[in-house]
Amino acid sequence: MIIASEVRSQIERSSLIRKMFEEGIRMRAERGAENVFDFSLGNPSEDPPAGVIRTFRALAERNAPGSHGYMPNAGFPEARGTVARRLRETTGLEFTPDHVLMTAGCAGAMNAALKAILNPGDEVIVPMPCFPDYAFYISNYGGVMVPVETREDFSLDVGAIAAKIGPRTRAIILNSPHNPSGVIYPEATLRELEAVLAKAPAPVLVLSDEPYTSIVYDGAHCPQLASIISNCMITTSWSKKWGLAGERIGYLAISPLVPDALALAQACAFTGRILGFINAPAIWQLVVAEAPDESTNLAVYQEKRDLMCDGLERAGYEVHRPQGAFYVFLKTPIPDDFEFVRRLQEEGVLAVPGSGFGRKGYMRLSLTVPRDTIIRSLPAFARTLDKLRG
Ligand SMILES: Cc1ncc(COP(=O)(O)O)c(C=O)c1O
Repeated sequence: MIIASEVRSQIERSSLIRKMFEEGIRMRAERGAENVFDFSLGNPSEDPPAGVIRTFRALAERNAPGSHGYMPNAGFPEARGTVARRLRETTGLEFTPDHVLMTAGCAGAMNAALKAILNPGDEVIVPMPCFPDYAFYISNYGGVMVPVETREDFSLDVGAIAAKIGPRTRAIILNSPHNPSGVIYPEATLRELEAVLAKAPAPVLVLSDEPYTSIVYDGAHCPQLASIISNCMITTSWSKKWGLAGERIGYLAISPLVPDALALAQACAFTGRILGFINAPAIWQLVVAEAPDESTNLAVYQEKRDLMCDGLERAGYEVHRPQGAFYVFLKTPIPDDFEFVRRLQEEGVLAVPGSGFGRKGYMRLSLTVPRDTIIRSLPAFARTLDKLRG
């Protein structure tokens, strides 16, 4: 077999999300698109802000000399400058452009960071459930993922994390607002974690994975992790907040409080290069540098969250309302999440089993579908539950 055995086994275990997405294509061909309610993929429903497209067009027209060429691997200085200024304002820390690396989305940032910090056998703690690709990113560099369960309400169990910290622990990945659960970690929990990390036998870096920080509900506040946790690296992107997931633009920022932060930033620029990214897409770096204040109409997600959660509750589901991000992660009415998702599929609904995120007995619904899909899908959710109850 020409494909490496590890990759074959990873593909086997890989994303149920993609599998459901492909199932959706098959079902649409069979039943007609209007009869399929596909809640599987987190592809943002909102188009990029008009100002972003205007800036993109203007930059293409301007076609400034050098704007399509190589630049420092970390990215154009103006893009890193814009990001650093923002981070100074929001965290109160002395971020400079040299602490920032423009990346191919959040995934590019996480891979550059993990490659720079992991020796084979080093451990990375991940609260569960989690975004499934973390496991692959960690194993890309010979790291070992150490899963730690969160509480029933998905809040962080700092005691359980502390119990897993050992001499090989290099990092903890935190993601708030969280995919899939939608929780936001409160300041008090982060302070508790900072106190634990201060006692760790060797420095433990927190990789704060932040692609959803601007998508919050009911006016919730998402604490700036870097202003609470000293040894912090931020990974984020414009994928979700500007609907630019396909353009692959994000950044990695290393807190100035990390020991040898600038050397680490240089190491990440190097790892980004040798992973084959070389640099983040040039034109999109320039767009984010010129239009930092743009935003999409994120209020639509609030409306969809309410419609979905209210409808599911009326139908008899137990719903844990997300505080942020754009997913609803709820208990399946039977413990076997695969079986329940199969039953929903019979009614034309596609959901992702919670097992794909490391929590059995749950399923994830993505709120990136149109509002009308939510409304039309609710009878199918109700029918599935009714049939189950006989
Ligand atoms: C928690 C989390 N981290 C990282 C990513 C990757 O984001 P990007 O597409 O910007 O690489 C995603 C994408 O869904 C995500 O949900």
